[in-house]
Amino acid sequence: MAEVIIVPDAAAAGALVADEIASLIAADPEVVLGLATGSTPLPVYEALRPRLEGVDVSRVRGFALDEYVGIDPQHPESYRNVIRREVVEPLGLTPERIHTPNGALETIEHAGDDYERAIAAAGGVELQILGIGTDGHIGFNEPGSSFASSTRVKTLTEQTKRDNARFFDSIDQVPTHCITQGLGTILHARHLVLLAFGEGKAQAVAGAVEGPVTASVPGSAIQLHPRVSVVVDEAAASRLRFADYYRYTWENKPAWQGL
Ligand code: PGA
Repeated sequence: MAEVIIVPDAAAAGALVADEIASLIAADPEVVLGLATGSTPLPVYEALRPRLEGVDVSRVRGFALDEYVGIDPQHPESYRNVIRREVVEPLGLTPERIHTPNGALETIEHAGDDYERAIAAAGGVELQILGIGTDGHIGFNEPGSSFASSTRVKTLTEQTKRDNARFFDSIDQVPTHCITQGLGTILHARHLVLLAFGEGKAQAVAGAVEGPVTASVPGSAIQLHPRVSVVVDEAAASRLRFADYYRYTWENKPAWQGL
């Protein structure tokens, strides 16, 4: 099962995950990271910055989870730009080594397969950062997504459009379609790190970690993966039935095990 780590706040989660990523980079300067957008991973990227000062990160590789389809590539909220602004530039990564699915309409029919090939050619993702949507999605795999899915076009749910409207002038400007790594793609990463903060995520977290494994809660796919760390604050953990056991497990974790 997933290891659930309940931390006091998002900053503590960021520090914990950033420590792990920094040691991966130290061990392998060409490590392949799975990057995520949205508000949730920001504390990780912030905490990484001081940890990577003076470290040669020029060969680190990365693959983002998803992109909007048909969005103007210059739009500040295209995930390509979000990743550039929030990850590549602050951390000093090499832009050509950091990839986002291609949401351009002209090539969309084969963009999913192209992305799968690029991930495979890089040797797969070592550590995949994940947020979770209030509807239980990971990446943009909305409810009903196949656990075997690969990178492909999906239609955003109304709820996701509402959740993401804060990044646009109005909900009507949120694109209807996205291209996202599939649940099958995500499950191939060697270590999944799912983060969630706040009461609004409590139900999705409980469904993903403890609910039945069902395509209706795409995040529950993590239960099929042998190495998952779920890092949540108290509010996001508030609906977990076995929260006390998770705390006990973390407090008694052998120091040599790491995240
Ligand atoms: P958020 O989005 O981090 O902005 O809450 C999470 C997600 O939709 O996966």
